[in-house]
Amino acid sequence: MTVEAAIPTEDQLAEAGLRLRVAGGVATITLARPERRNAMTGRTWTVLAHVGQTLPASVRIVVIKGEGPSFSSGIDLAMFGPDGVEGEPSLMGYLGAGPGGEAALEAAIAGYQEGFLWLRRPGIVSIAAVRGHAIGAGFQLALACDLRVLADDARLCMKEPALGLVPDLTGTKPLVDIVGLSRAIELCLTARSVSASEARDLRLAELVVDGADLDRAVDDLVAALLATPPEAAAATKALLQQAVGSDPAEQAARERRAQVARLTALARQGAPGASGPPAG
Ligand code: ACO
Repeated sequence: MTVEAAIPTEDQLAEAGLRLRVAGGVATITLARPERRNAMTGRTWTVLAHVGQTLPASVRIVVIKGEGPSFSSGIDLAMFGPDGVEGEPSLMGYLGAGPGGEAALEAAIAGYQEGFLWLRRPGIVSIAAVRGHAIGAGFQLALACDLRVLADDARLCMKEPALGLVPDLTGTKPLVDIVGLSRAIELCLTARSVSASEARDLRLAELVVDGADLDRAVDDLVAALLATPPEAAAATKALLQQAVGSDPAEQAARERRAQVARLTALARQGAPGASGPPAG
């Protein structure tokens, strides 16, 4: 007998500074510590990972947004202090714990990264709805999403190097994939803020809208994404992800295999497979 893991409770989510709403194939995750500008802790990321592991299979779209004026001010800076945040170990505390401390810290970071990695899986499309600041881990969370919709007051900043750190929450790869190596070096090593209009020019934003229109723009995008059949959407996202840096012949072969699988499934379903898929 398999026992399905339960999604985090409201209390677990609240302790992690999160809220979750699942309705109509859409999961909306709200970063909900506005009094700290949605600063995040290790628990935020492990609970995010838990959300990813337990979302109902019916969920096709994940929207991540922030409550209040900022998307997220990044890691809760108390995580670096001697006491950490309440109920969680300080990052520095791992290193003072004697032999094995470095390995334990690396394992903890691996757990945090799980909160980001699932947002890329093919069966869902993830959207970051960003208003105000997305700093450090906040910027990396937006980068972990497939799509970014920005309010015109959005400010993106990879602040880690300015604090003596590196971006380690899976943000380096999407950043380089999107803006290229040289621009990524410039953005990270100056830790400057990128405005919404520059983000659009750098392709860090699919859409920039007036702040008052952010929710509506995300709703419109969600509706358009939901209109595409889920199996075709998942297979296409997987193909596009594999296309990055792949050999053309290898990718062409993947396209053929994926199409045969799609046509086979459509034929099994009968119409419209029998007469071909609807014209696009
Ligand atoms: N960690 C803990 N507390 C924070 C954080 C944070 N990352 N960001 C903001 N807060 C707290 C502030 O200390 C303040 O608390 P207080 O009301 O008790 O004084 C409250 O949230 C509101 O912050 P303000 O600075 O007053 O808000 P403002 O809108 O003026 O500025 C901003 C927002 C730009 C986000 C600013 O707070 C800031 O620069 N925060 C630090 C950002 C940072 O360095 N993050 C770490 C990046 S590296 C990484 O994420 C791995």
